[in-house]
Amino acid sequence: MKKIDWNSLGFAYMDTNCHIRYVWKNGQWSAGELVASPQMSIHIAATALHYGQSAFEGLKAFRRKDGKVSLFRPEENAKRLAMTARRTCMAEVPVDMFVDACKRVVRANLDYVPPYGTGGSMYVRPLLFGSGAQIGVAAADEYTFLVLVTPVGPYYKGGLQAVKAIVLDQYDRAAPLGTGHVKVAGNYAVSLYPHLEAKAAGYPVELYLDAKEHKWIEEFATSNFLGITKDGKYVTAKSGSILPSITNLTLQQIARDNGIPVEVRPIAFEEVTEFAEVAACGTAVVVTPVSEIERAGTVYKTGPATGCGPVLEKLYKTVQGIQYGELPDTHGWNVEVE
Ligand code: PLP
Ligand code: COI
Repeated sequence: MKKIDWNSLGFAYMDTNCHIRYVWKNGQWSAGELVASPQMSIHIAATALHYGQSAFEGLKAFRRKDGKVSLFRPEENAKRLAMTARRTCMAEVPVDMFVDACKRVVRANLDYVPPYGTGGSMYVRPLLFGSGAQIGVAAADEYTFLVLVTPVGPYYKGGLQAVKAIVLDQYDRAAPLGTGHVKVAGNYAVSLYPHLEAKAAGYPVELYLDAKEHKWIEEFATSNFLGITKDGKYVTAKSGSILPSITNLTLQQIARDNGIPVEVRPIAFEEVTEFAEVAACGTAVVVTPVSEIERAGTVYKTGPATGCGPVLEKLYKTVQGIQYGELPDTHGWNVEVE
């Protein structure tokens, strides 16, 4: 194993010891094997390649203060993958198999879980795709489920440093009755081009509005939207075309535990200036404060220019404190791998 500089990890892929791989054929999943090579051979007519029959998940494993390693809420990711599998006619991965796969692959790669105190974590990436051949548009008769892991640091440089977001009205992410609520690979392919435009304009993050009216806030390309109102409420978007974020659910619970009222409701874009603090939340981005949002040449201030406001800081420190085993896990969110 190469020496890793744990303190300077970004959100990038690194080879590890192995991934775990299962194949579904004739109505049954294989037992799952640890595979050392990160390369695999795939049929040229696999439905994943032609028709995008592919979905993924993202969760993290943490090295805790007590030295143990735990996964954060893996059953929630399992349930979401099952929902995505149903929507894309793929074989479902049972919740127990999903959680076991994550535990086995993390256990086989413990050397790659960043040490406690470095601020890093192990990103766990389950992937499900049609590996069977079809040439007509039809569901595959074979599926591959694999889980790869890679050590990561912050998604955006600087951790709890604010980023600037932009609304690009010439692009939509998801149609009202489309697939925004599930984690299909194609949702991300179509976000790459708008992301390049946002970056060229100096914005690391894009915020999407609803496709029908361009009036309501939906979510960022890789995370949910949340705002803290000037009178201290936690507000997050209600929409049938955004991904149900597990981090968002977690933060809502932490907010309630701390006496912060939570509102899940449609948020009109004009409301952005009403917030004292705004953040992107998700597994990869954790809680990333958003200091301003540009739309059509106008810049709306949505929080402190640098750093982080007090409510977001409290939420961030609490979720990370639970994940790293520094605070009591009163909701039973941590699942030990050993
Ligand atoms: N929204 C989108 C589009 C995402 O890709 C993600 C990341 O998975 C999220 C939200 C956040 O979801 P979670 O908190 O479950 O990681
Ligand atoms: C995650 O937060 O796990 C995601 O899936 C977002 C992104 C890396 C695709």
